[in-house]
Amino acid sequence: MARVFSGIQPTGELHLGNLLGALQNWVQFQDRHQCVYCVVDLHALTIPKEPGEVGANTVALTQLLVATGVDPDRCTLFVQSHLHQHNELGWLLECNVSYGELSRMVQFKDKSEQRDFVSAGLFTYPALQAADIIGYDTDLVPVGEDQRQHIEITRDIAERFNSRYGQTFVVPEAFIPPTGARVMDLQHPENKMSKSADSPQGTIGMLDDLKTVEKKIKRAVTDNDAEVRYDPSAKPGVSNLLSILGAATGADPAALADRYEQYGPLKTDTAAAVCDLLSPIQARYHELAADPAATTDILRLGAAKARVVIDPVLDRARTNIGLTPA
Ligand code: TRP
Repeated sequence: MARVFSGIQPTGELHLGNLLGALQNWVQFQDRHQCVYCVVDLHALTIPKEPGEVGANTVALTQLLVATGVDPDRCTLFVQSHLHQHNELGWLLECNVSYGELSRMVQFKDKSEQRDFVSAGLFTYPALQAADIIGYDTDLVPVGEDQRQHIEITRDIAERFNSRYGQTFVVPEAFIPPTGARVMDLQHPENKMSKSADSPQGTIGMLDDLKTVEKKIKRAVTDNDAEVRYDPSAKPGVSNLLSILGAATGADPAALADRYEQYGPLKTDTAAAVCDLLSPIQARYHELAADPAATTDILRLGAAKARVVIDPVLDRARTNIGLTPA
């Protein structure tokens, strides 16, 4: 079985794009692979946070992941900061990546722009991400298109380390879902749905009240030519609705288009499908949120399972570098 690793930052509420583009894959991968899923709270600190904010978001995100079907009995679900090994391995990798390579990261350029405090952590972020991945002898990393460059640099670091110090790490590969799986903003369908975008009407939060969800979908922008056709470049709004309906029901968006003549029924069905999808997740989330001790137990068990995997990898790295044994 292939080892799968992915990470998600505890920064604010997840939206429908996260669910359909990423989390549904995470859930399905559990049937076929050995999965390790990590709430990367240390990465969230690269942008300054208020005291307590990251911890609270970490718990809520864990509950939302479990509510969605990430099953702590069938995968390893844990919090990054619970394992000091990530930082230790991160340092060893930081010393095997250059300033120039890190300077070329598009995400760093984007996130450091227009910010008066740019942390050193934001710059070295990809080395910690590489440690997350490499630390678990990972074969496959399901991520969005925006993370392609970070997986490339992870591969470069692993290969460089292996050639300097001898075979130590598995070189991972990215698994990036096809662009059809991308959920776009309902008001600005040329942009990806995003929690950071200043577009509450265009973004469906996973915990949005279902009446609100319905309203947002009914008010989604379409176009004036009144033809239902799957054509993301010419008809981004309509195609986005078809993609959402397809992803929510497991159908092909282009085939779905043939079933509709008008936008009204397409919106009604899309709203119903999204509400059917979200309703049990929200119910389960509220149950989990009412019992924080259960979440603590889940994360403690997850950390113990993760430790067993990362410890020998870290040992291998220390040994191959030739650090004196502790
Ligand atoms: N950088 C990723 C993001 O912003 C989060 C992340 C951290 C991650 N470590 C990871 C993703 C390891 C995949 C694997 O989405």
